[in-house]
Amino acid sequence: MIEVNGLVKKFDDVTAVDNISFKVREGESFGFLGPNGAGKTTTIKMLTTLLPPTKGTAKVHGYDIIKQSDKVRECIGIIFQEPSLDERLTAYDNLYFHAALYRVPRKEIKPKIDKALSMVELKKVKNKVVNTFSGGMKRRLEIARGFLHMPKVLFLDEPTLGLDPQTRRVIWEYINGLKKDFGVTLFLTTHYMEEAEESDRVGIIHNGKIISIDSPDNMKKRIGKDTIILFDRDGNERAVRALGFDVTKTGDKLHLIVDNSEDALRKILKGDVSIDGLAIKRPTLEDVFIELTGTAIADEAGSPMELMKQAVRIKRRR
Ligand SMILES: Nc1ncnc2c1ncn2[C@@H]1O[C@H](COP(=O)(O)OP(=O)(O)OP(=O)(O)O)[C@@H](O)[C@H]1O
Ligand SMILES: [Mg+2]
Repeated sequence: MIEVNGLVKKFDDVTAVDNISFKVREGESFGFLGPNGAGKTTTIKMLTTLLPPTKGTAKVHGYDIIKQSDKVRECIGIIFQEPSLDERLTAYDNLYFHAALYRVPRKEIKPKIDKALSMVELKKVKNKVVNTFSGGMKRRLEIARGFLHMPKVLFLDEPTLGLDPQTRRVIWEYINGLKKDFGVTLFLTTHYMEEAEESDRVGIIHNGKIISIDSPDNMKKRIGKDTIILFDRDGNERAVRALGFDVTKTGDKLHLIVDNSEDALRKILKGDVSIDGLAIKRPTLEDVFIELTGTAIADEAGSPMELMKQAVRIKRRR
């Protein structure tokens, strides 16, 4: 459904997207995971014909994004990172305007709008002006609009950025419903790990380059060690070391890095270890990201900790 070959985008001296290639299958959800400035939005803009590539080619539903841009536009829907509704219009009129732009036949417009609005549960407020909506309602309306003309591929750029966890979950139910009920192919970007984890396949992008593409499960398996966490009591450290484990200590906890947690547990139970609390931590996509890039994604996304570190650095320089 999407085929990308050596795509490059340069802005003056910045290479925002640096020679990326990948494919997305029909009906698949593909998550583009990367920190701020990685090149996610730039890639989406090229694939949706809003920005010409500096080099390389791509096809969407078999159509070339440069030579057949009109055809590409007909079969895609876009949900932008930046809000793009007309706040002064009602929910209904926002969708009507979109339907007219996409030349949805006049007779079909009203039923299509009604269906899209009920899908995101906004039918009751369809005649309200959008600037009275909450952030979550606006996002739902944007999803309804992106899907109104029944695209084959839906591009979603950070669809849940800035929403609370509960609203994020609701939005994902709608998005996954589109995939399940209509077989729409999803191409989405996010820097929430747990959202990327829901995708069929994930591409990790860093400094404009794709550094890994695979299913979340396979990615985790590849870096693949589990950690067993035990309390450091009654000579536990000595006991687990005697069993041959690789141990690191933080506070009153022992971290055992193991290939297979089931085998390791059996071994621990046989040893002279006192177990009054135990946790098994499986690798997460965050671990994969750190392993591949040497940095945590949250650091670069402007976490309070990172902002504080930056402030200290600036102060020192002065
Ligand atoms: N129109 C532009 N002109 C100049 N530089 C740009 C332009 N658009 C993007 N860039 C640069 O290209 C790089 C990639 O930006 P992009 O918006 O694609 O990142 P992103 O992965 O979407 O980040 P975020 O998670 O913050 O949305 C950045 O260094 C950015 O500053
Ligand atoms: Mg972006």
